[in-house]
Amino acid sequence: MHILILGGVGGIGAGMITEARRRFPTAEIHATYHKHTSDNFDTSVIWHEVNICDEAEVETLANQFDELQLLINCVGLLHLDSQLPEKSINQFNPDFFNANIQINALPSLLLAKHFQTVLNRSTLSYFVTVSAKVGSISDNRLGGWMSYRCSKAALNMALKTLSIEWHRTAPNICVLSFHPGTTDTALSKPFQARLPQGQLQTPAQTAHYFFDLLSKLTTEDSGSFIDYAGNKLPW
Ligand SMILES: NC(=O)c1ccc[n+]([C@@H]2O[C@H](COP(=O)([O-])OP(=O)(O)OC[C@H]3O[C@@H](n4cnc5c(N)ncnc54)[C@H](OP(=O)(O)O)[C@@H]3O)[C@@H](O)[C@H]2O)c1
Repeated sequence: MHILILGGVGGIGAGMITEARRRFPTAEIHATYHKHTSDNFDTSVIWHEVNICDEAEVETLANQFDELQLLINCVGLLHLDSQLPEKSINQFNPDFFNANIQINALPSLLLAKHFQTVLNRSTLSYFVTVSAKVGSISDNRLGGWMSYRCSKAALNMALKTLSIEWHRTAPNICVLSFHPGTTDTALSKPFQARLPQGQLQTPAQTAHYFFDLLSKLTTEDSGSFIDYAGNKLPW
């Protein structure tokens, strides 16, 4: 089995690597990092330095694979050092909006374009992106977080559209948009204070839920927006 985890130095990505190694001890696991290296890189993983917003770098990465059964994109952005997500339209900043679209929506399209052939070679493979429930349009009751919400809604549309195309042209690939639940990472850190007790998952828990869920899903579930508990979410 061959597994690729994009954003392997991030909180959820690192949790996915550990859980993948535990469940599939003989798998060949590849992971990417971008700006941040880690002092404790898992040496059983094959690491690639990739900016997954750059098409040439994604294409070069894809060309290194002959087969792949599971691709999980754990790359994402919610805030920058210079800007937190918007509370109102007055805080809207085009550069921040573009950064959200670029990091949260664009990479899955590049990955889909360059990995479709290699993923479709297996009888069953998974193309998964970690999205977020706040990208649901019909579930949006609170407002706020304009750029992040728009970017995750765009991502979800891309994944749904891809699942329809691949149903015809690459039917062995199951496309999933995964909501991980609030997980203790650098991305969620500024927003953890007001969470009700017991609602913050560790990356290990999130990865555990994900792999339990994955074992129950097939190409019939392709095009689902699904959370860590297995609930199908409204778009
Ligand atoms: N944590 C939560 O509560 C939560 C809830 C809902 C959804 N999510 C989603 O889960 C995903 C993972 O989030 P996380 O909490 O694990 O965040 P995180 O710890 O901040 O990790 C984000 C990762 O994205 C990578 N990255 C950013 N820009 C990149 C680029 N251009 N090319 C390659 N890699 C890039 C970072 O790599 P470098 O550090 O090497 O740059 C880092 O590994 C995100 O999509 C997020 O929206 C998280």
